[in-house]
Amino acid sequence: MAYQLDMERIPQHIAVIMDGNGRWAAERGHERSYGHQAGVDAVRRITSECTRLGVRYLTLYTFSTENWNRPTDEIAALMGLVLSSLEDEIFMKNNVRFRVVGDMGRLPENVRRKLRETEEHTAGNTAMTMVVALSYSSRWEITEAVKAIATEVKDGRIGIGDITEQTVDRHLQTEFMPDPDLLIRTGGELRISNYLLWQIAYAEMYFCDTFWPDFDEQELHKAIASYQGRQRRFGKTGAQIEAEESSLR
Ligand code: IPE
Ligand code: IPE
Ligand code: MG
Repeated sequence: MAYQLDMERIPQHIAVIMDGNGRWAAERGHERSYGHQAGVDAVRRITSECTRLGVRYLTLYTFSTENWNRPTDEIAALMGLVLSSLEDEIFMKNNVRFRVVGDMGRLPENVRRKLRETEEHTAGNTAMTMVVALSYSSRWEITEAVKAIATEVKDGRIGIGDITEQTVDRHLQTEFMPDPDLLIRTGGELRISNYLLWQIAYAEMYFCDTFWPDFDEQELHKAIASYQGRQRRFGKTGAQIEAEESSLR
């Protein structure tokens, strides 16, 4: 089935919890890492389709702080995939800027270097920013922001009364991008798993059973169509939103 998308209302920022690689592989009688490899192909597909649709930011949950507790061979396979999949060509072809958020200090040096290089090489690309959350968890990120703000207060650079929501925003690793409009989780679980807790305050949620390696353009369109069918009220009444929209027309 084809989904009719309103090209005027494409979400500016889509965040994705790419889940289900391991189960996808198990269903086929393969190792979990085979699923992660197939997951990379899905990343390519979705990145290129998001660029085509005019999405400005795509934030992909790739490896969580808690994923450090996985078996070491799986972690090694995932780090290897990060290294091998960061090809400049893909970003250049799609005019995509690459950024990473997370606790870089925990990553192996060669992975860190490759990430930094890819950020530098793609810094001039303008169609879309693809953000990979790697060694990332929201509670870690918020804790780091609290520490940084506390230090500024202690040093007398700001007063406690100066702390606003914008202060917090600016101290998060995601300070360079707007909040997600749409959060997609594949793989059937109905949870957030420590992803962008502050930033998704008003994101529209979309959960689907499809395992990440099977997530394709059609599935993406379905998620966006679902998003476009909703009224985002931000605490107001439906009538208020309708009045605002008709005054814009
Ligand atoms: C998501 O797939 C990718 C990572 C967390 C790295 P999983 O590896 O969690 O796959 P399932 O959920 O076990 O199927
Ligand atoms: C969330 O998936 C993290 C990523 C997709 C990178 P998990 O598979 O780690 O989440 P839980 O453990 O099922 O909540
Ligand atoms: Mg999982």
